[in-house]
Amino acid sequence: MDKEGSQLIRGLEGVVAAETQLCDLDGAHGRLAYRGYDIDELARLATFEEVAYLLWYGELPKSAQLDALTVALTAAREIPKELVQALRLMPRDGDPMRVLQAAVAILGMSDPDTTDNSHAANVRKAVRLTAQLATAICAHHRIRGGLEPVAPATGLGHAANFLYMLTGARPGAAAVKAFDASLTLYAEHELNASTFTTRAIVSTQSDMHSAVAGGVGALKGPLHGGAGEAVMRTLLEIGEVANVDAFTQRALAEKRRLMGFGHRVYKAGDPRAAILRGMAEQACRESGQFKWYEMAVQLHDRVGRAKGLIPNVDFYSAPLFYSLGIPVDLFTPVIAAGRIAGWTANIVEQHDDNRLIRPRADYVGPKRRPFVPLNGR
Ligand code: CMC
Repeated sequence: MDKEGSQLIRGLEGVVAAETQLCDLDGAHGRLAYRGYDIDELARLATFEEVAYLLWYGELPKSAQLDALTVALTAAREIPKELVQALRLMPRDGDPMRVLQAAVAILGMSDPDTTDNSHAANVRKAVRLTAQLATAICAHHRIRGGLEPVAPATGLGHAANFLYMLTGARPGAAAVKAFDASLTLYAEHELNASTFTTRAIVSTQSDMHSAVAGGVGALKGPLHGGAGEAVMRTLLEIGEVANVDAFTQRALAEKRRLMGFGHRVYKAGDPRAAILRGMAEQACRESGQFKWYEMAVQLHDRVGRAKGLIPNVDFYSAPLFYSLGIPVDLFTPVIAAGRIAGWTANIVEQHDDNRLIRPRADYVGPKRRPFVPLNGR
């Protein structure tokens, strides 16, 4: 690149940094598809396991292929006892995303394919890490609450088993469907900040676990996956439907950043938010906590009218997750439990056709100057 002629693009907005077969994101029209399949159909009609298969192998699975993946995911659910021990040693009030980042790094120390970056090894690691990430999140949650981790249940699918390992109780069909569809909606989203992070890391020929640990770190921030948790804290701060108007006026006057609103790419609406809205409505109604849905709808309306901002994926997932009984500080780990499918698929794609990701910066510091020895400063 000719540095003299360089043009700074802040936040890399609009920059195309990869070719991908995974995710087709049409921001102008608010459309999203994974490998050609519309997100709405995938969320309604496919399981998370089918979606993960699609992302990793390129096609929706036939019945025997899905069975084989289900067996592989189920077999990979247990986490090493060293990781469980490490979770016991972590501070009880530790941020679950910080813990998850450490857990992924620890899993990388015992994975049989850790440093093998071949396509086949990467797919094997994707399967294992997807299963183990779920177990690690739930085990840590149990341990921090002074409880024993719940062993994975072989007869349950990925979403149902997650809820089971979290609570120790077998979840109902409606909760499983809503959670499973949420994992699908979060599974993949092109070059979002965390996925870009994972690609940048493996572009150095580093490995999947190192990249996913980095992805977890990027997802944690409130401008990215951390927004869902922030949305719920906003709703809890508002407290009642009757307070939404006063809250909105105050927030606008204070020029607060409204969490769960706005998107870098979607300008006509985030299609995932529309799907999650319907799911949140049903889940809030069934849980007897309809007010969270009503508050979200009213806030959406007021903010939309005042600022023209659209709700993004993290807006309606907040009341949905809350009414499913997921603790607020586990919202972002749950998002990671879905996005792991996309991170790992992107890592496979990057390794299959790699070139080091290494952009430039415009230097704006002091001009060249002579070094001043310590006693002369
Ligand atoms: N609340 C208030 N103002 C906003 C918001 C918001 N949520 N989003 C954008 N704006 C305003 C912003 O203040 C700025 O105004 P001005 O030009 O007057 O300074 C303008 O819109 C452009 O903002 P930006 O931050 O430069 O735009 P961006 O494309 O970089 O922002 C965003 C994208 C997602 C970071 C931003 O919309 C935001 O901070 N939203 C809240 C956090 C959030 O919900 N994040 C989840 C994103 S989607 C899921 C995910 O990535 O995991």
